[in-house]
Amino acid sequence: MDGQEGTQTYFGGPTLLAATSALVFSASVALLYVRYQSRIFKDSNSSSGCFQSASGNDENQEDAPSETAVQVTVLYGTQTGTAERFAKKLVTEAVPRYGGKARFRAVDVEEWDFKDQLPKADVLIALFATYGDGEPTDSASDFVRWLEDQEEADEEPLLGKPFGVFGLGNRQYEHFNAMGKLLDKRFTKLGGSRLVPVGLGDDDENIEDDFDRWTERLWSSLDEALGGGAGGGAAAAAAAAPAYDAEVLPAGTPEAAGAGSLGHGHAAPAMVRVAEVRELHSAESERSCVHVELELGGSGLSYTAGDHVGVHPANSEEAVEAAAGLLGVPLDSVVRLSLPEGRAADLLSAPPPTPATLRTLLTWHTDLLGPVHRPALAALAACASDAADKDRLALLSSQEGKQEFASWVSQPQRSLLCVMREFPSARPSLGLFFGAIAPRLQPRYYSISSAPAASDGRMSITCAVVDEETSAGRRHRGVASMWLARQSEGAEVPAHVRSSTFKLPRRHETPIIMIGPGTGIAPFRGFLQERATARAAGKDLGEALLFFGCRDRAKDFIYEAELRDFVRSGVLSELFTAFSREDPGKKDYVQHHLLANAERVWGLIGEGGHLYVCGDAKRMAKDVHEALVEAAQKARGLSREAAAAELHFLADCGRYLKDVW
Ligand SMILES: Cc1cc2nc3c(=O)[nH]c(=O)nc-3n(C[C@H](O)[C@H](O)[C@H](O)COP(=O)(O)OP(=O)(O)OC[C@H]3O[C@@H](n4cnc5c(N)ncnc54)[C@H](O)[C@@H]3O)c2cc1C
Ligand SMILES: Cc1cc2nc3c(=O)[nH]c(=O)nc-3n(C[C@H](O)[C@H](O)[C@H](O)COP(=O)(O)O)c2cc1C
Repeated sequence: MDGQEGTQTYFGGPTLLAATSALVFSASVALLYVRYQSRIFKDSNSSSGCFQSASGNDENQEDAPSETAVQVTVLYGTQTGTAERFAKKLVTEAVPRYGGKARFRAVDVEEWDFKDQLPKADVLIALFATYGDGEPTDSASDFVRWLEDQEEADEEPLLGKPFGVFGLGNRQYEHFNAMGKLLDKRFTKLGGSRLVPVGLGDDDENIEDDFDRWTERLWSSLDEALGGGAGGGAAAAAAAAPAYDAEVLPAGTPEAAGAGSLGHGHAAPAMVRVAEVRELHSAESERSCVHVELELGGSGLSYTAGDHVGVHPANSEEAVEAAAGLLGVPLDSVVRLSLPEGRAADLLSAPPPTPATLRTLLTWHTDLLGPVHRPALAALAACASDAADKDRLALLSSQEGKQEFASWVSQPQRSLLCVMREFPSARPSLGLFFGAIAPRLQPRYYSISSAPAASDGRMSITCAVVDEETSAGRRHRGVASMWLARQSEGAEVPAHVRSSTFKLPRRHETPIIMIGPGTGIAPFRGFLQERATARAAGKDLGEALLFFGCRDRAKDFIYEAELRDFVRSGVLSELFTAFSREDPGKKDYVQHHLLANAERVWGLIGEGGHLYVCGDAKRMAKDVHEALVEAAQKARGLSREAAAAELHFLADCGRYLKDVW
């Protein structure tokens, strides 16, 4: 898959497509060229100009761009950090490629004052992820809404502005890359001029490769306009690895703030108190899943059943100590990080709040155990003192070393700590480590497993604990899940609430069908609590079916007693269970029960019922969708296409909702 679908979505047949694309592309490149040349001309006539000609050999071309350089805004909308990483990679590669001719800046859409800043951007590059059911990230929702308003008002805020869009998504989701496609379309409608076909990155396959391919196409159109190219690429970018200015302050300097200052904007957390942590699996189970109750009193947080909570975890002490050892800096050192002067600042986001001890920075702000990316290896190569380490790291970070990177880093899931242990001569400065090597530790989201009306000021999480061995022999203990499982009563946890569209129907009489194996049960526990409260208040309830699955009823049938109580009280009409590992000869999954109850399920849908699916996105949600299609064929005598269209229709009108991850 090449990750490029672009203009094909919006134009007619192939011939018209080719002609139109070529025309649009030439127009935008010409426009940029004119803009650039006119600036150079202005510059060459002024004493303050930073370079004299577009093609001249003036050394200043490689220096910081002048105020009149072409302003390229690389805007990103991210939830888990990939779009941000790509934006920084793009900017890092652009610096040596275009020197002083253009100023590329990576900007988080949440921090972008678009009404003020959009007119100042000569070129707009947008890297946006899709979430929910084809929705923008929380950080991008205001921007996307504003674009819609502009379109409705027939405004053209992007008139003549060259743009490029790369969407980040996953083909497993029904609305694949909805945001990338929407922005590409909307930017065009608002007068923008497309530089490259929209890139559709698929993180079910290899989104890094998709992005690299799209970037190459972007460079070739920008090269044409800006006359860049030489000196570009990943190798040059490695030399430009950005670093914060870092200083170690005298012992005893007070810290700015600790965990309370994690995240920002929509993801700014409040501290909540742990009221209870209890194991949900039986003693016979080889795995663990915990029920965590959080006290919301005084936190200012509120939620409704079906929302998500973002938990901001801490690294284990073991990982933090190992990292400090590898950096050669004592954990109690008080560190100040600040943005450097000049272009390096364009590659960096604001540092975590400092002064802070190295312990605070490594515990709360730094991803030490997650996947390692090539730019981090390039930055490590730059500081390795041993020639063999330097060469090997440079190879792993290079385009030629892609295969080696895949087999030595990605497949065996080597973490940053593992890599740093294997290359002890690569000892980065604190500024380089926090600026270019270690990503920010991201919050983890959980489907809230309670309803406020039934929970007395608390919210609960149902968390499967990740504890696995990688093929490199490393034991990976899930950063957040293991941390949550280890909390004890009274501990404080940073968390924020993210509202979702995964909600019960407005009328309690409307039938519902819930499908949630494993921790996919989480939001349905909240739904059932909400229905129980409604019933207690004298409301009539429609039918409710729940399809739950786990491996073995003796080990991991979580919340069994509560579910049986819900059935007894009539809050849940029927509970269907699938145990996948009880009978070695037969894998029993929720989808088999859906199919076996096709008439009942589609009968309720026929009465206006709502369908809900929660849990694993990669396999379960797909298999369940397939089973629902088959069930419709069986129960309604529909063709496959008509059955799929029926589900599509239900999804479009909000009656087939998924909360899958
Ligand atoms: C909207 C939403 C709702 C969710 N709801 C729930 C819920 O209700 N209950 C629940 O249990 N979970 C839920 N999750 C999942 C949850 O957010 C976490 O992803 C999960 O708890 C694991 O996080 P962790 O920090 O413990 O594991 P991590 O440390 O993040 O590890 C998780 C996985 O990442 C990969 N990985 C980690 N390190 C590396 C490496 N160095 N190289 C390559 N791969 C690596 C591995 O595959 C590993 O299994 C939800 C997720 C989303 C997005
Ligand atoms: C809860 C959840 C919902 C998602 N929904 C969609 C979706 O509707 N369409 C899509 O193409 N990708 C979807 N994705 C995939 C993400 O867009 C993809 O992983 C992307 O690379 C994330 O980028 P980020 O790290 O910058 O946030 C979803 C991912 C998660 C975890």
